[in-house]
Amino acid sequence: MGTVSFYLNGRRVDLFVEPSESLNFVIRERLGLMGTKNGCDTGGCGSCTVIVDGRAVYSCMMYAMQALGKRVVTVEGLQNGIHLDPIQESFMDHGGLQCGFCTTGFLMSSKALLDKDQHPSAQQVKDALVGNLCRCTGYKKIFDSVLAAAEKYQKQA
Ligand code: FES
Ligand code: FES
Repeated sequence: MGTVSFYLNGRRVDLFVEPSESLNFVIRERLGLMGTKNGCDTGGCGSCTVIVDGRAVYSCMMYAMQALGKRVVTVEGLQNGIHLDPIQESFMDHGGLQCGFCTTGFLMSSKALLDKDQHPSAQQVKDALVGNLCRCTGYKKIFDSVLAAAEKYQKQA
């Protein structure tokens, strides 16, 4: 066991973790934030994606200890009070989800992209989401959702 401290959705977290515990396990099972999914636990689906210091990462492939001192954002951190983030609104408005299992992973990968570049090309959106799999929606609506969110971010800028 060792102590790890990091910032989760803007709040400091200090807890004891086993060296073998993944960030995904700690977020879900120790801290109770179930928005981050775990579809494969082997780095193959992207459903566990969170943002760590501005980069989309698979939380199942990162030890919790590696989060030391970092800023971690999960889907629960996207919303601002009662207001959804534009990326969340766009997925709803453009049918970017069906069962929703993959959705938080797509949201976090998309958010990481749009925080860096609010004018992505369609190809850049595809490239940013290449590590996220969806079994039911079809990717076109997901890509459309991200491009629509980019327009919303541009208007806010
Ligand atoms: S659960 Fe992490 S990539 Fe599938
Ligand atoms: S919405 Fe069902 S797996 Fe993507």
